[in-house]
Amino acid sequence: MCGIVGYCGRKNISEILLGGLKRLEYRGYDSSGIAVGTDNGITVIRRVGKLKNLIDAVPSMLTAQFGIGHTRWATHGEVSEENSHPHTDCSGKIAIVHNGIIENYQQLKDRLIASGHKFKSQTDTEVIAHLLEEAWDGNLTASVRAILPMLRGTYGLIAMHADVPGVLVGARRGSPLIMGIGKDEMFLASDASAIASHAQNVVYLDDGEIISISETGFSITDADNNDIKKPINDMEFENDDFEKNGFPHFMLKEIFEQTESISRGMAGRLDLAAATGKLGGLNMNENQLRAVRRVVIVGAGTSYFAGCIGANFLESMAGIPARAESASEIAYKDIIIEPDTLYFVVSQSGETADTLIALRELKRKGARVLGVCNAVGSTIARETDGGVYIHSGPEIAVASTKAFTSQITTFAIFALIMARLRNMTSVQGEAFIKAFQAIPSQIKEVLEQDSAILALAKKYCGYPNFIFLGRGVCLAAAYEGALKLKEISYIHAEGVGAGDLKHGPISLISEQMPSLFLVPNDGLRQKNISNIKEVKARCGKVIAICTRGDNEIAETVDDVIEVPETWPILSPFLMIIPLQLFAYHCAVLLGRDVDQPRNLAKSVTVE
Ligand code: G6P
Repeated sequence: MCGIVGYCGRKNISEILLGGLKRLEYRGYDSSGIAVGTDNGITVIRRVGKLKNLIDAVPSMLTAQFGIGHTRWATHGEVSEENSHPHTDCSGKIAIVHNGIIENYQQLKDRLIASGHKFKSQTDTEVIAHLLEEAWDGNLTASVRAILPMLRGTYGLIAMHADVPGVLVGARRGSPLIMGIGKDEMFLASDASAIASHAQNVVYLDDGEIISISETGFSITDADNNDIKKPINDMEFENDDFEKNGFPHFMLKEIFEQTESISRGMAGRLDLAAATGKLGGLNMNENQLRAVRRVVIVGAGTSYFAGCIGANFLESMAGIPARAESASEIAYKDIIIEPDTLYFVVSQSGETADTLIALRELKRKGARVLGVCNAVGSTIARETDGGVYIHSGPEIAVASTKAFTSQITTFAIFALIMARLRNMTSVQGEAFIKAFQAIPSQIKEVLEQDSAILALAKKYCGYPNFIFLGRGVCLAAAYEGALKLKEISYIHAEGVGAGDLKHGPISLISEQMPSLFLVPNDGLRQKNISNIKEVKARCGKVIAICTRGDNEIAETVDDVIEVPETWPILSPFLMIIPLQLFAYHCAVLLGRDVDQPRNLAKSVTVE
């Protein structure tokens, strides 16, 4: 979703701002723009559509030493140049970029219009520029501080003023903002990716903080103008993390990275001698973990499906009642917090508005909430009572792949810890760890079937509808496989419990509606085979993902992809890989924008 970047320094400003916006493209956007301070005031350039349109419009040598940039994902007002950021005040001396939503913008706008301000856009953001114009007292930080109490809603924003050259002021509430420190240059951004190639250190800002940067320094203050000291962190990303490294798309690169990303998520977290796991950041001792009677896992999209699988791990391995809840639902439910229930919020970005709101509601009502995040220093990671980083590395493609398998890696380790504190024997624990540690190399074997999966995609990508079916721990993997297909290929796909087929979805079965079954070698295999036969009896085409050597299935279905044998509970790790590749190849064959599918954003920072 909207991305922001700001720069104070002497390098080529168009390269820095446009390069930063390029890195933010993955979040999803529909227009973009920059504002730079020149000797003649502020120059604003904005364009609708892909960033290339903006790049073509910006002169390569802009002489300016401070500027801001933005990728917009329309919320208030259509996609147009006028509604693109940066927004300016009436004088044109103030420019603003903003991520988030100002909920009371209409009242503010009415009042500002009544006092003579002329608006140029339909956005909520433009009111900030006019409010600043009204509050202007020659000091940019003080003026920003003065207007923030008037804003209701969420913001990560950067302001600049032509009369204060070389200075940017940022503020945040509910939308991310970080500062980057380079050599004689300073940055502000919504996301480390925008500045990873230039900044050596980063400071994560918290809600309520106001930051002022210049080429040589910065100061952070609160609403009452008290100085705030913040830890300075190393920039954890390498430039390479944001390159495709020879792959045609980030999504394919990230699918193939899963052997390493899962290994990274396991590293140092499995203790074969004690036959258990170790998760340092939980902030809970063994007695507190033993006292947990229920687990609820909250997330959105792919993270929610990872939570469903995590709940399954906990019930099957540790015998703890566990369930997953969709973040957008739990946030507004009458939640009953029981003292012995442990909550997790799962989020790749750590910035998803629905998940953040759910976290805050749960905490307000007294729950202990742990986080499972990828983005280090993200808002959710910082607001939880403890948690685990999944360490899958930056995920750039909008459709989540490696973060999903890393999230379920974390839950498998947590379930192992909980099981070993309860019923699981050391022999079982050890056997589980061995099976689990084999997963990365088994994923490699599945990835080697890429060309067979491409052939399958060629055969099936012309069908407009699909059903993905699974049971038990593979049900959420079926949901996730269907989500992948619809997200990037725009083929309609439904995830259905194979046992629920007869309760309705079977009426859809025809030659025109292929079904994709996940059939691990578990106690439900025979039931799945019966369901496959029901589909075949109605002339439906069936693709099955099954265990290597399962000839009965291979002989029953139209097409089959085999994965290595593992513990049935671990089968989602292997079964999801062909589904990710299938979705990817269908999307490429259909000519879709795989890494940035239409209407979607990587990090949904509005409700
Ligand atoms: C959006 C993205 C999905 C993602 C979901 C949750 O819907 O398009 O790919 O799974 O948000 O994101 P999170 O960062 O919280 O895991």
